[in-house]
Amino acid sequence: MADKATLTYNGKTYELPVVVGTENEAAIDIQHLRAESGLITLDDGYANTGSCISNITFIDGEQGILRYRGYPIEELAEYSTFVETAYLLITGELPNARQLAEFKALLNEHQFIHENMRHHFEGFPADAPPMAILSAMLNTLGCFEPAVARPSDEPNFLASAARLLSKVRAIAAASYRKSMGLPINYPRFDLSYTANFWHLMFCMPNAPCEPDPDIVRALDMIFILHADHEQNCSTSTVRMVASSQANLYASVAAGVCALWGPLHGGANMAVIEMLEGIRARGESVPAFVAKVKDAHARLMGFGHRVYKNFDPRAKIIKQACDRVLSRLGIRDPLLDIAMELEEVALRDPYFIERKLYPNVDFYSGIIMRAAKIPLSMFPVLFAIGRMPGWIANWREVHLNPKARIYRPRQVYNGPTKRPYTMLAARG
Ligand code: CMC
Repeated sequence: MADKATLTYNGKTYELPVVVGTENEAAIDIQHLRAESGLITLDDGYANTGSCISNITFIDGEQGILRYRGYPIEELAEYSTFVETAYLLITGELPNARQLAEFKALLNEHQFIHENMRHHFEGFPADAPPMAILSAMLNTLGCFEPAVARPSDEPNFLASAARLLSKVRAIAAASYRKSMGLPINYPRFDLSYTANFWHLMFCMPNAPCEPDPDIVRALDMIFILHADHEQNCSTSTVRMVASSQANLYASVAAGVCALWGPLHGGANMAVIEMLEGIRARGESVPAFVAKVKDAHARLMGFGHRVYKNFDPRAKIIKQACDRVLSRLGIRDPLLDIAMELEEVALRDPYFIERKLYPNVDFYSGIIMRAAKIPLSMFPVLFAIGRMPGWIANWREVHLNPKARIYRPRQVYNGPTKRPYTMLAARG
C-alpha cells in the first residue's frame, strides 16, 4: 500500500503521509497540510475524519465487525462478564484470576457514595430526567474525590477507574429511588456488579429480595454490548474534554450529556415510545413505515453512521430478547411490533438503498422492559455500560505523549468585516 498520497491545488502538489492501522485501515495524515498549503479539510459531522489513533476498539462497518482490544463482541457477550470486559477495555488485557479478584475487591471497596452526596439528590425535582442527575452527580463526585482521577494519578488509575465504575451504579440507582420517593439503598458486598445494581434499584429494606439470575445475566450482557464503540459522539466528547486535561469525572459527565440525545443513547427510549405509539394508535406497521418515509423522518433504533451492513450488537440482542422473554415467561406485544417493523423495513427499497439496519437500541429496550427498568432510565443503563469505554479513551488521551488539545477548525461563512452600528442607528 502506498505510504503517501498526493494532493494538487492551485498548480502545486503536496505529499501527504498515509497512516495504516493494524487492521489495514488507511488514513491520510493532514496535520501539516495547512502549514504547507493554507488548506484545511472540511467534514461536517466528522463523517470521514479520524480524530485519533486508538488501540481500544475496532469496527468494520461494512462487514459488521466489532472487537474490543481484538476480542470479537460475540465471544465477549457469550463468555465474559461486564466486570471482566471493563478491565479488558481499561487495561488492554483480560484479567487473570488474581487480577479479576483484585479488581472486584476494588469495585466492592468503592461502592458507597459519600453520605453527604446523598443529600444532593434532594435538590432535584422528582421528575428530573435521570440523565441530567447522572451528569450533575458525576461532576459532584469529582468534588468529593478531588485527589483522584487526575491526569497525574496514573499509578492509581485502576483504583480511580474502579471507583467511578462502582459509584456510577449507585448514583444511577439513587436517582431512580429518589424520583419514586423511595429510600436510597446501600450496596451489598456479596453480589456481582450487575446484581448489585439491580438490588440498588429495586430492593426494599423490609422484604427479602434476591435478583433474578436471568435478568442479571441479560443486563450484564447489555452492559457488555454497550461498553465501547470507538469514536462515537459521547466518547469523542469525553476525549475532547480530556484533551484540555480536565479530570476523569468532568470528562465523563460531559459524555453523559452527549449520550443523552435521541440520536445517540436516548434512542433506546425513543424506540419504546415509537413502538408504544404504534400500539396505542392501533396503527398497522406498513402504514407507520410509509409515514416515516413520507415525512423523511427517522425510524428509531435504525441506521448507523458506521454500520452499513448490520450492527453485530443488534443481532446478539435480538437473540437474547427471545431467550430472556421466554425464560421469564413474558409476552411483550412491543416485541411483535418491533419484529414486524424490522421485517417491513428490511424489505423496503427506501431502507435498503440507504443501508439502514436495526442498531443496538432497537431491541435493548424490550429486554430492559422485561427487567422492569423504567423507560427514563434506559439511557442511564447505556451510560453505565459505556463507562469503561469512556474511561479507557480518557486514559488513552492522557497516556499519549504527543497529545494536544482537541481544537478543530472551521470554514467561516458569516458576514465579512463591517463597522459597529450604534444603538440609535439600528432602526
Ligand atoms: N430512519 C429513516 N431514515 C433514516 C434513518 C432512520 N433511522 N437514519 C438515517 N436515515 C436516512 C436519512 O434520512 C438520510 O436519507 P437521505 O439521504 O434521503 O437524506 C440517510 O438515511 C442518511 O442519513 P444520515 O442522517 O446521513 O445518517 P447519519 O450517519 O448522519 O446518522 C444516525 C446516523 C444513527 C444518527 C441515524 O441513522 C439515526 O438518526 N437513527 C435513528 C436514531 C438511532 O437509532 N440512534 C442510535 C444509533 S446506534 C447507538 C448509538 O451509537 O447511540
